[in-house]
Amino acid sequence: MAEINAVTDLTTEGEVAVLTVDSPPVNALSVAVRQGIVDGIARAVADPSVRGIVLACAGRTFIAGADITEFGRPPQEPSLHAVIRDIEASPKPVVAAIHGTALGGGLETALGCHYRVAVPSARLGLPEVKLGLLPGAGGTQRLPRVVGVSQALEMVTSGTPIGAKQALDRGLVDALAPEDGLRAFAVDYARRLLADNKPLHRVRDLPVQAEPGVFDAFRRANARKFRGFDAPEYNIRCIEAAATQPFDEGEQTERRLFMELMNGTQSKAQRYLFFAEREAQKIPGLPKGTPVRPIKKVGVIGAGTMGGGISMNFLSAGYAVTIVEANERALERGVGIMRGNYENTAKKGRLTTEQVERNMGLLSPSMSFDDLAECDLVIEAVFENMDIKLDIFGKLDRIVKQGAILASNTSYLDIDRIAGATQRPQDVCGMHFFSPANVMRLLEVVRGERTAPDVLETVMQLAKKIGKAAVVAGVCHGFIGNRMLNLRQREANKLILEGAMPWDVDRVIYDFGFPMGPFQMADLAGLDIGWSAETSRGETLRDQLCERDRRGQKTRSGFYDYNEKREHTPSPIVEELVLKQSAERQIRRRKIDDQEILERCIYPMINEGALILEEGRAYRASDIDMVWLTGYGWPAYRGGPMFYGDTVGLKTVLGRMQEFQRMSEADFRPAPMLVKLAESGGTFTAA
Ligand code: 3HC
Repeated sequence: MAEINAVTDLTTEGEVAVLTVDSPPVNALSVAVRQGIVDGIARAVADPSVRGIVLACAGRTFIAGADITEFGRPPQEPSLHAVIRDIEASPKPVVAAIHGTALGGGLETALGCHYRVAVPSARLGLPEVKLGLLPGAGGTQRLPRVVGVSQALEMVTSGTPIGAKQALDRGLVDALAPEDGLRAFAVDYARRLLADNKPLHRVRDLPVQAEPGVFDAFRRANARKFRGFDAPEYNIRCIEAAATQPFDEGEQTERRLFMELMNGTQSKAQRYLFFAEREAQKIPGLPKGTPVRPIKKVGVIGAGTMGGGISMNFLSAGYAVTIVEANERALERGVGIMRGNYENTAKKGRLTTEQVERNMGLLSPSMSFDDLAECDLVIEAVFENMDIKLDIFGKLDRIVKQGAILASNTSYLDIDRIAGATQRPQDVCGMHFFSPANVMRLLEVVRGERTAPDVLETVMQLAKKIGKAAVVAGVCHGFIGNRMLNLRQREANKLILEGAMPWDVDRVIYDFGFPMGPFQMADLAGLDIGWSAETSRGETLRDQLCERDRRGQKTRSGFYDYNEKREHTPSPIVEELVLKQSAERQIRRRKIDDQEILERCIYPMINEGALILEEGRAYRASDIDMVWLTGYGWPAYRGGPMFYGDTVGLKTVLGRMQEFQRMSEADFRPAPMLVKLAESGGTFTAA
């Protein structure tokens, strides 16, 4: 074996040389890997005994992309372009041998090879768009030459990888190799190419054809999905360039557009989030190798919207779930809704009927807590009432086997008090799911004062298995997400009394990039959550709306009026009520501009985030950003509230908070951390 450098080596098997990249964890294209490939190819080309070359990877995956940690630093030679150019220019056929994932620069490298073989479990894709980028090493120019314009548009703008079998159908790979014999297969494949005198397939030389109007039709069809993001449009423009410009010119267009994205804030935000997601898994004080408790059977208490959604997460991942509800009709209804949800997914073709039956077959509905005795994890999801929760945890303590994890889905309540209702507070934590729980990715894992390390570790690993993005939060009212949301809601409510209308606030928040504004969100959730006609005093706008049976989307009226398609229009009744409220409270309405609406809604959240950090309820600013990204629809291209604060500049945020203090001293009191960072020129995300 000849070592090329620390991360690549070259071996020969007869007339075929195998160039192997071995750079854990994911063989990213660091400068060393790039240099190793260039040198390895050069050596193989120069060796007269070598007639063909296989490019393979050791470890868990083929090349998973450019090395993202190098982004934003001065570029180092050789560039990825040069690497791919050298491979493609090789006079000896180069075969890419793909296992794991060939992503981004990895797939671009494979596209520079003359042939590609892959094991069936391999996945191939260009996920750059998810980092706010485009494939910048010829990927947008080569991919449509292989799979056609429509498929290429789909792949680069979604960033979703495709499986090897699909790649074979689309011509992206030339042959499937046996799962455990990739290297030998690739070598043999190269030998056969040589024996059959096959030509060198240079992708750059293939033609591209585009139907007239295909690009604009694609833009129109996806306008909603791409709203606010720069990268999808840039990717489309590159594919357009591939169809209209010669290869080298197209590559230059790609390069120029890549650099524009790379230097922009959106990509910076999205790259930051990539690492934030991984960082959130690292929990201070939890040593590596912390044991985990085996989880096979899960219990869920409450068959309402939350309990049902929570159960579906586990059923879909293959866990047996016992769902307990006190009332038989509620239990039947809850189970029926779960089945209905699965069947709808099946109708859309995203599940088979067998999968629906398999999932539902794992569910045991029950009306007795005794059926939870053998569960390894029990999640309580009844409504927010401390006394009820204390009672439930007392019961669980008596019934459920020792060593089980007891979790509450509470959104606000004190987990330490709940844990105190048991003789085993070390086994108790919060698992706060977000509605709809089977869809939203966020799971706030609330670490109680006495939660044991192995409980925390188990829940974090379990979250990954059920496809959630878990973030650890400390005990406080509303934890990370709702604690901050409350401030946005407070300001939204104040703003409409001071001069804005609900639809003004919603428009500003929507234009900022959220899927909807606070009042639309309230209509969707239902205005009568926690409201009752008996106790209503008719004082707040919400009281007044509920009293008029305007309870949100479900009654087709709330802050807005809704038609049968659930499209909303501003309601004159609401306008009248808002004006009346202002008058009754003797608030002189004034014109409030969009900038103030935005700043009043967002800056107090950033400030609250600073308090949360100071108090140690979140480990790092990026955890707060993950909460907002995955639980509340914060636009990824703005990175999250803390990143956004850094982008705006903490001096600016502080300055505006201080100006707003003139209106309300207490509501805008700056957090000491915000003051300190603003004064020292620091940032949250580098802190
Ligand atoms: N560069 C640098 N580090 C990377 C990386 C990359 N491209 N991809 C993954 N890593 C790191 C992760 O940060 C993580 O580090 P840590 O252990 O210190 O936290 C480690 O590798 C393992 O990653 P995961 O925890 O994500 O491991 P998984 O097995 O769950 O997933 C993966 C593996 C599917 C490869 C996933 O890591 C992934 O999707 N990576 C990013 C792929 C990507 O976006 N590639 C395109 C890059 S941009 C590009 O190529 C531009 C080009 O067009 C010019």
